[in-house]
Amino acid sequence: MDNLIEIAKKKAGIAAVDEFVKDGMVLGIGSGSTVVYAVNRIVERVKQEGLKVVCIPTSFQSTQLIVNGGLILGDLSRYPKIDVDIDGADEVDENLNLIKGGGGCLLQEKIIASNSEKLVIVADYRKNSKILGEQWKKGIPIEVIPLAYIPLMKKMKKTGGSPILRLAEKKAGPLITDNGNFILDVDFGEITDPKVLNQKIKLLPGVVETGLFIGMTEKVYFGQKDGSLISRKR
Ligand code: A5P
Repeated sequence: MDNLIEIAKKKAGIAAVDEFVKDGMVLGIGSGSTVVYAVNRIVERVKQEGLKVVCIPTSFQSTQLIVNGGLILGDLSRYPKIDVDIDGADEVDENLNLIKGGGGCLLQEKIIASNSEKLVIVADYRKNSKILGEQWKKGIPIEVIPLAYIPLMKKMKKTGGSPILRLAEKKAGPLITDNGNFILDVDFGEITDPKVLNQKIKLLPGVVETGLFIGMTEKVYFGQKDGSLISRKR
């Protein structure tokens, strides 16, 4: 892995935590490789400053990050209102709409984001686009109920997309999400109206959730190749 990318991710993770995380907060903890740096920074600040924060996970992976970091693990039943959710993204457009789900965790990520006061995104320079689909060429991740996947693939084609069933690694067959579902990665090319596309896809029976996060983001941090940082706010 390119070291410059890791440095950029770390820069974004630390900046987001230092600007948004305050004592007594309930935090959403996203998934993916960039969030790891944010969690490490939270752990550091809890130790150094004695911060008390409760962390709500968005996946099996983030539950492990919280537990292994010695942080307090919460859930939506006990903490239905989250102050700040820190998460990664696969691509960010000029209006701060996102493609998420490259790591397969989009459903819980969207539930947590939609119950958070603020969604703060941490990313590296490769994710910064004008239009969704400009740089992220793997398609929009869409979580679907397994029995519906064939008819849904046909319907995605009718909607103008090219769907692929995401396969597992080190196991023959499909990837199974944390929620027991499949993921279709559907390439729609460059997406000029992500809001309308999201609504269309969501109406198809069997679709559980899409990886299009529309109008949810408060701020994005992009770590840069040269070690600097840029950010964009809603
Ligand atoms: C997980 O399913 C995704 O939504 C991640 O948030 C996204 O893929 C970003 O991951 P990285 O930080 O590893 O790029």
